[in-house]
Amino acid sequence: MSTVQVLLGERSYPIRIRPGSLADLGEALVAEFETSHAVVITSKPVAARHFAALESGLLRAGIAFEPLLIPDGERAKTLRVAAGLYDRLIEGGVTRQTLLVGLGGGATCDVAAFVASTLLRGLPLVQVPTTLLAQVDASVGGKSALNHPRGKNLIGTFYQPRLVWIDPDVLATLPPRERRAGLAEIVKVASIWDADFFKWLEENAGAVLGLERDALAHAVARACGIKAEIVGLDERDAGLRALLNFGHTLGHAVEVVNGYRHVRHGEAVALGMVFAARLSERRELAPAGTAARLVALLSRVGLATEIADLEPQRPAYLRAIAVDKKGADGAIGFVALREIGRAELVRLTADEILPGAV
Ligand SMILES: NC(=O)c1ccc[n+]([C@@H]2O[C@H](COP(=O)([O-])OP(=O)(O)OC[C@H]3O[C@@H](n4cnc5c(N)ncnc54)[C@H](O)[C@@H]3O)[C@@H](O)[C@H]2O)c1
Ligand SMILES: [Zn+2]
Repeated sequence: MSTVQVLLGERSYPIRIRPGSLADLGEALVAEFETSHAVVITSKPVAARHFAALESGLLRAGIAFEPLLIPDGERAKTLRVAAGLYDRLIEGGVTRQTLLVGLGGGATCDVAAFVASTLLRGLPLVQVPTTLLAQVDASVGGKSALNHPRGKNLIGTFYQPRLVWIDPDVLATLPPRERRAGLAEIVKVASIWDADFFKWLEENAGAVLGLERDALAHAVARACGIKAEIVGLDERDAGLRALLNFGHTLGHAVEVVNGYRHVRHGEAVALGMVFAARLSERRELAPAGTAARLVALLSRVGLATEIADLEPQRPAYLRAIAVDKKGADGAIGFVALREIGRAELVRLTADEILPGAV
């Protein structure tokens, strides 16, 4: 079992990572919370694959539990779904000791966190992320989010779970495309924070993607460790945490222009990272060859690195970039690479990001 501590004073919590550990969560809950009751928030497709293992452990530990099913994936991230959960929890006699367990991808974890943070002003929450993206990104950092018809993640809270329980073995059922998308966020944290880890990925990314146990567990633990370190320094997103947006300025634009349904978030981020690294080189912030290393690593795991429709769609990309949190000076906070393993937030105008676009 490897443990990453997220250090946030009295809101500190451990992320525990061990292949095959899903069936042991029950015992851990008894040990860590002295609880005898839990409500598991999950979706049908995830429950069909992984509830049995969790259930066996809960039964063994003598924990009474109840699964609450919500719609799969992004469709669950609405106030309506949250309200439905409030109804069912209140009808079920929820108290402030009721432990909520989120079992699923980032979307399910977001909903579980939102409900845990708002119902009775806060219920204890345990996250059990089951996609690679959720394991290395969504479950670390304590942001919960729901979507609004006008935009993604517009409604949310900061709320730390009490425990994150990661069993990398559950990724065996994850389609390869989802694995690659999750790997993009791993490459991201290596790029901005840890040159040694980037080098390790250059040698081991294939093994991670192929779900080789040791490699996968190491990659998940190190990626969580980096995010935890950054979040520990800037829980409320006041500065340093912005570095985690590396690749996301153009990445978001790729999602908006192509439609969220057609491109996975990690795929868009991969494209955005290459774009950002090239821009960093052009502005002489990063040494020549930085972007090439990123391209080589991303290509090796099968992620696209060239935005096919950038030229013909330039105005649409620009519009999408321009709605990104603009400051009074009309500039956008843009994460530039200084070298592999080190990033910096710079302020650029949209025209400096996509020259000739305005
Ligand atoms: N709160 C945060 O800090 C944060 C950070 C990053 C992303 N997110 C959010 O996370 C969401 C994206 O997460 P995601 O990529 O996990 O997508 P997702 O939650 O939509 O899950 C994608 C699909 O994977 C399936 N799935 C989950 N686990 C599986 C498994 N083990 N085997 C087979 N299929 C499985 C799900 O059924 C779903 O259909 C977005 O809503 C995003 O906004 C939140
Ligand atoms: Zn992201």
